[in-house]
Amino acid sequence: MKTLITDSPLEAAAILNEGKTVAFPTETVYGLGAAIDSPEALAEVFRAKGRPGDNPLIVHIGTPEELPRVASKLSPEAELLVTRFFPGPLTLVLPKSSEVPYAVTAGLDTVGVRCPAHPAAHEFLKCCHSPVAAPSANRSGRPSATSWEAVHNDLDGKIAAILRGNTSRIGLESTIVDCTGPRPLMLRAGAVTLEELQAIVPSITPAGETQKNEAPKSPGLKYPHYAPRARVVTHERGESPAAIPSASAWIGLGTPPVGIALAKLCTTHEEYARELFSFFRHCDQEAIQTIYCELPPEKGLGRAIRDRLNRAAGNH
Ligand code: TXA
Ligand code: MG
Repeated sequence: MKTLITDSPLEAAAILNEGKTVAFPTETVYGLGAAIDSPEALAEVFRAKGRPGDNPLIVHIGTPEELPRVASKLSPEAELLVTRFFPGPLTLVLPKSSEVPYAVTAGLDTVGVRCPAHPAAHEFLKCCHSPVAAPSANRSGRPSATSWEAVHNDLDGKIAAILRGNTSRIGLESTIVDCTGPRPLMLRAGAVTLEELQAIVPSITPAGETQKNEAPKSPGLKYPHYAPRARVVTHERGESPAAIPSASAWIGLGTPPVGIALAKLCTTHEEYARELFSFFRHCDQEAIQTIYCELPPEKGLGRAIRDRLNRAAGNH
């Protein structure tokens, strides 16, 4: 299949409306979209990514007003979160409406819903006739794509089109909050921080901190994630890895260890989040064998960066 690259949200939406797959920019990472009423395009998304069929897709809407199309009910907590954080980098897990097929939710009666704040994503979604199911636009297991070039590298020839946009402003995937249980659970950390969520809904807890069999975890989180080809090794700030092999890289906020061939020093957590996945991909292009990553403190945006680093390193 020839992959068309376009700068026009209208053209991209027209291709999606024909039942084809289209990658598009959002403020978190690029998504690979299919209309939720197109079984062929949905199957194509799983095929192009090499994604396991039991991993549900997030449904994207252009405006919060479209929520009733995809979710059958909003809890009072969900209402508060929508008012404060939609549009933005937050995904809410809600009871699904009948319009959302089980092919999207991997058989679950719940659906993840997100309304991106990115202007081109908004334009694109507004022109799509149906809500758009979209996982991150990378081959399964690889670092998410934060630029159209990264999408192109992973998926050229496997998808119908790429809506070309800017480099993703945030660089890490959305925060996911499950609002279907007795109390809201943060399933995945992201740019909307736990502290910001709790300022609106104090009862929100991270899923990991609940009893083992109490919480339905995000199905996708059991798979390996965000992994470059190089080995990822994490360290706390101030700890220095002992012997640095040649062809090693480092990313962090402190001081690079001595003997590192390629270092990315970030000055803020925002920069660390924005640069992480593109640095992983750059390291692969440079044939780096080991990437040392400094873990930021587990608060604010640091929580999301730590989570991605630990998953990339296979620490949990
Ligand atoms: O920022 C983002 O969220 C990006 C952009 C494109 O919106 N999307 C994204 O999608 O990261 P993906 O497929 O890479 O990750 C979605 C995660 C998976 O771990 C999946 O298991 C979980 O969301 N998920 C989706 N629907 C769910 C549901 N109904 N219940 C629990 N987890 C769900
Ligand atoms: Mg993903």
